[in-house]
Amino acid sequence: MKGTVLGIEGTAWNLSAAIVNEKDVIAEVSDMYKPPTGGIHPREAAQHHAKYASYVVKGVLEEAKQKGLDASDIDAISFSQGPGLGACLRTVATAARMLAISLDVPLVGVNHCLAHVEVGRWKTPATDPVTLYVSGANSQVLAYRMGRYRVFGETLDIGLGNAFDKFARSAGLGHPGGPQIEQFARNASTYIPLPYVVKGMDLSFSGLSTAATAALKDNSMEDVCYSFQETAFAMVVEVTERALAHTGKNEVLLAGGVGANMRLREMLDIMCNERGANFYVPEKRFMGDNGAMIAYLGLLMYDSGNVIDVENSHVNPNFRPDDVDVTWIPRDLEEGMQS
Ligand code: ATP
Ligand code: FE2
Repeated sequence: MKGTVLGIEGTAWNLSAAIVNEKDVIAEVSDMYKPPTGGIHPREAAQHHAKYASYVVKGVLEEAKQKGLDASDIDAISFSQGPGLGACLRTVATAARMLAISLDVPLVGVNHCLAHVEVGRWKTPATDPVTLYVSGANSQVLAYRMGRYRVFGETLDIGLGNAFDKFARSAGLGHPGGPQIEQFARNASTYIPLPYVVKGMDLSFSGLSTAATAALKDNSMEDVCYSFQETAFAMVVEVTERALAHTGKNEVLLAGGVGANMRLREMLDIMCNERGANFYVPEKRFMGDNGAMIAYLGLLMYDSGNVIDVENSHVNPNFRPDDVDVTWIPRDLEEGMQS
């Protein structure tokens, strides 16, 4: 694989640009939108991205220059085409198009979910994993099969991180909720039964979040946080385990901001041990949303001729990972990849 790609991520609150080659991340500059109170306001986040787009792009080019890499050495520009907040996606796409035109290089539209998977395959020993991707807006179990990443299970309503954040808001805790819930859960003494909702291979967290809020009336914050975590994590681990059994794969990769949670890691680790599977967690900087993953999947796609015209570079807020033709995994390698 050859080439150097500059990628821009901005599906939600994190705006991040990075330059990578096949060996490593050469430079990365991020700027996070922090809402004054509560959750994310899509229009304000987009305004933030518009304001700081040139700052992160200039910053990353400057950093790369100090390492001897010139803007003219960049072979392609990649950006998050979706899924995400429409206003944020459009802002980042505009910046990416301008940059591709001014540097006269191809444009690559990246599926954000697959970027999480591919950066994990790059930065851990995982080769052909079942990926559990749990973030604020997304919760999916993905695995590669015959030219596509298939979605084996996913949330039918909100992402697990958003379910935590929604509960935290109603409980008067700050944003984001996940880390605080993890803290409270450490000092719990009792498990309170809460709705465990797995439908086929799919998940639902909205009712669980509401039930957790209601349970606060008669129970301590510690016990409710613990029970919420135990229930939600058992649900995602169950679906991940069934995807492993179904596909016959023997690796699990964790991705997304909720993956920071130590109890979730522990539960996945136990499940993998019991099944004789390997469990991989990338470094924290590659788990939440980051520019490096967009640049890296951009490189894989650029290298396999998967580029788009500016005229056909519309964003897609509901972009599904299983809509992407996986050009970067040669079909004749599939056998080897799966062994
Ligand atoms: P995406 O666009 O992929 O949905 P995002 O904007 O939600 O991403 P991430 O950094 O991937 O950003 O994830 C943030 C979410 O992770 C928040 O909902 C937050 O509550 C949750 N989170 C962060 N740390 C923890 C933790 N230790 N335990 C549980 N949840 C956590
Ligand atoms: Fe993400």
